[in-house]
Amino acid sequence: MAPTWPEEVDVFSVPHSRMKELVQGYLDQMTATNFSNVIHLTTLLENLCNAFQEFKIHEQIENKYILCRLRQKLRSLSIRNSAVCNCHSDNRLSEMLELVKDGFQWMWRPQAERLHYGFKLRRALEEFTGSFIPHMEEEEAIFQPMLIEYFSYDELKAIKAEVIKQHLRK
Ligand code: FEO
Repeated sequence: MAPTWPEEVDVFSVPHSRMKELVQGYLDQMTATNFSNVIHLTTLLENLCNAFQEFKIHEQIENKYILCRLRQKLRSLSIRNSAVCNCHSDNRLSEMLELVKDGFQWMWRPQAERLHYGFKLRRALEEFTGSFIPHMEEEEAIFQPMLIEYFSYDELKAIKAEVIKQHLRK
């Protein structure tokens, strides 16, 4: 059975529920979008822009309030962990945001070009989702136990409170 910890020191689950809700939202909308319909496409792109901005904020919060602190703690104990160091180095958030923003310029192009863009966007979103969900699972399965091991209960409570506060400010 997977290890569990009290909710008040679980720094990932609550924000990740929100991120997974956003993922499910765009997957559902993607399925229902008719790319030859300009209103459908505009609505999808606006929602995707908002979702990816939120993913970026989530990543910045994790970097600043969780991963930096974990790296510092490990460094002070002379422990090197490449997973922590490289956690957000290869994700494709900026690339995806560019692709989504690029979609607005396809709006008034011929239908065949919009459909081509839609195909590209769909494929990129599927690839992104295929790595983003495991990424969050890795944070929960690998980094949370490390946090439990290297931080005190009160430290973790404070980190979680800050993480939630920052997400609510977005
Ligand atoms: Fe929680 Fe790095 O996504």
